[in-house]
Amino acid sequence: MKILVTGGTGFIGSHTVVELLDQNNDVVIIDNLCNSSESVIKNIEKISGKKVPFFNIDIRDKKALEELCTKNKFDCCIHFAGLKAVGESCQKPLEYYDNNINGTLVLLEVLKKYNCHNFVFSSSATVYGSPKSNPIDETFPKGTCTNPYGWTKSMIEQILIDLHNANPDWNIALLRYFNPIGAHKSGLIGENPNGIPNNLMPYITQVAVGQRKELNVFGNDYDTPDGTGVRDYIHVVDLAKGHVKALKVIKEKQGLKIYNLGTGHGYSVMQVLKTFEKVNNIKIPYKIKPRRPGDIAACYANPQKALKELGWKAQYTLEDMCRDSYNWEIHKKN
Ligand code: NAD
Ligand code: UD1
Repeated sequence: MKILVTGGTGFIGSHTVVELLDQNNDVVIIDNLCNSSESVIKNIEKISGKKVPFFNIDIRDKKALEELCTKNKFDCCIHFAGLKAVGESCQKPLEYYDNNINGTLVLLEVLKKYNCHNFVFSSSATVYGSPKSNPIDETFPKGTCTNPYGWTKSMIEQILIDLHNANPDWNIALLRYFNPIGAHKSGLIGENPNGIPNNLMPYITQVAVGQRKELNVFGNDYDTPDGTGVRDYIHVVDLAKGHVKALKVIKEKQGLKIYNLGTGHGYSVMQVLKTFEKVNNIKIPYKIKPRRPGDIAACYANPQKALKELGWKAQYTLEDMCRDSYNWEIHKKN
C-alpha cells in the first residue's frame, strides 16, 4: 500500500512508520516539524534500512497537499498530525481548533479530491470523558472532555462519522489510544516533549537522569487500590503495530470502525514508579501533591474488539515500557 503519514516525525508516527516499512508498505511522511525534528527521518532509515520520503508540509496548506497528491497516488492516509498538550490547549483553544480540526478538514478535502477515501485517525481514550466503569469498551458513550485538546479528538471523530454516513465508500478506522509510553528498543526514536512534561513517564525519565528534582504524584486519595490514579499504559511499538493491523479495515473496505488500543491492564502511578525503579535500578524521589484538575481516578481499556476483529494484542509489559523509556532518555542526552 502507498500510505501518506501525517505527523510521521512525531512520537507515535515515527514508530508506526518503522512498522509500516517493516511490512513493505510504501510510505510518504509529511510534518511541519512544530513538535519534532527532521533528524527523526535519518533514525527511522537507520532502524528500517529503507529510505523514506519526507516533506515539510503543514496539513492546513491545501496547495502543498494538492501538489503532493498530484505526484503520488495514495491508497490510504494515517493521520497523526496534531497539537496534543492538554494544558496548552486551555491557554490557546483557537490554535488547537484551527490546527487539529481545520487541519483535518483541509486534509480530508484534498484526499477526497484525489480519490483517496481511506483514513486512519489518532483518537484518544479522552473521548470517553469520565467513564461509568472500567474496563472501557467501544460501546461506552462518549463523554464530556475536560479540555479543548480532548474536544478536538471528539469533534474530529464526529466529522469522520458524518463523512462516512454521507459517503459510505470511505473506509475509516478511529483508533482510541490509551496511554502510550516506551520507545523503540534501539534508543533512536522516542518521545521528545517540549518544556516541562505533562505526562507521567517523560517526567519520571527526566527525574531519573537528574533533569528534574522529584516527581509530583497528583493525588493519593482516589478510589483506587493505593489511592493514586490508574491508567492503561501501552508500549508505543505495540500501538504502532495496531495501526498496521487496522489497515485490515481499509483493505477489506469495512466502512467506519472504532477500536480501543490499550493493554486492558490498569497500573497506578505508584506501581509505575516502583516498576521503573526496580527495572532500571534507580531511585525516583517523589512528593504527594493535590489532585490535578481534570484527572479521573481510573481509566483502562477492554481491548477485546481489536483482538477479535484485527488480531491485535499488546505484547509488551510494564517492565519493558519502563526499560525502553529510560533507555531512550539516556540516548537522547548523549
Ligand atoms: P507528537 O507531537 O510527537 O506528533 C505529532 C506530529 O504532528 C509532530 O511531529 C508535529 O510536528 C506534527 N504536526 C502538528 N501539527 C501539524 C500540522 N498542522 N501540520 C503538519 N504536522 C503537524 O505527538 P504523538 O504523541 O506522536 O501523537 C500523535 C497523534 O496521536 C496526535 O494526533 C495526538 O493527539 C494523538 N494521541 C496521542 C496520545 C499520546 O499520549 N501521545 C494519546 C492519544 C492520542
Ligand atoms: C493525559 C491527558 C489526555 C491525553 C493523554 C496523553 C489530561 C487530563 N489528560 O492523560 O487527554 O490523551 O495525557 O497521554 O491531561 N501524574 C502524576 N504526576 C505527573 C504526571 C502525571 O502523578 O507529573 C499522574 C496523573 O495524575 C495520572 C497519571 O499520572 O493519574 C497519568 O497521567 P498522564 O501521563 O498525564 O496521562 P493522562 O492524564 O491519563
